[in-house]
Amino acid sequence: MKEISPIAEGLLMIHKIITRGLATSLRKCDEYVMKRGLPPGEASGFTMYVATFSRVTHAHHLSEDDIAFPYFKDHLEAPYDKLKNDHRVLSGLIDTIDQYLPDLSINGVGKLREVLGEFENVWRPHIRSEEENFTAEKLQSVAGIKEQEKIVGKLAAHSSQNAGPGPLALPFMFYNLEGRERELFMKSFPWIVKRVLVPVIWKKQWNPMTPFLLQING
Ligand SMILES: [Fe+2]
Ligand SMILES: [Fe+2]
Repeated sequence: MKEISPIAEGLLMIHKIITRGLATSLRKCDEYVMKRGLPPGEASGFTMYVATFSRVTHAHHLSEDDIAFPYFKDHLEAPYDKLKNDHRVLSGLIDTIDQYLPDLSINGVGKLREVLGEFENVWRPHIRSEEENFTAEKLQSVAGIKEQEKIVGKLAAHSSQNAGPGPLALPFMFYNLEGRERELFMKSFPWIVKRVLVPVIWKKQWNPMTPFLLQING
């Protein structure tokens, strides 16, 4: 039987969200560089999308540093120092990304493309290492489902404190996933959040990001 682990599942999903956010930002930068600038209708949405990517990613790293790693450390061997150092490097790159966002002239987009590329070079091996070290099987051997669910709840609460405003962070997370993964990720959110607040009440706030997200009603 396949091992089920709420922590490993949560890790894979947030990595997927961030990886898609990164890939979309890179692809759009390439497109804008080729077009010699941002179409005026996309500028505010793109800025909002990349800024939300920054906040959500930073929050994920803080929750690993503050909650996941200290918990795993007692039970599992992993290159914790290297992983934490990656977070420091990525955090510096996030600061640079944020600095470039107010000026998305053709020059600014080129600089943003470059730093997102540097981010990708650290990010890809970093998540590979986490996903190899914190597999469902390994996690199941150290914590039961109930205990894992408790930790997932702590991780989510911690992340929501640092991920920036919910009206932007939540649609960013929901709609950078699709199909079964979106369903699985949204499962633990209250009905009012996923059926009313995000898709209806907060829609006006996050609407500019729509061209960069996956199909909303998918
Ligand atoms: Fe990490
Ligand atoms: Fe991670």
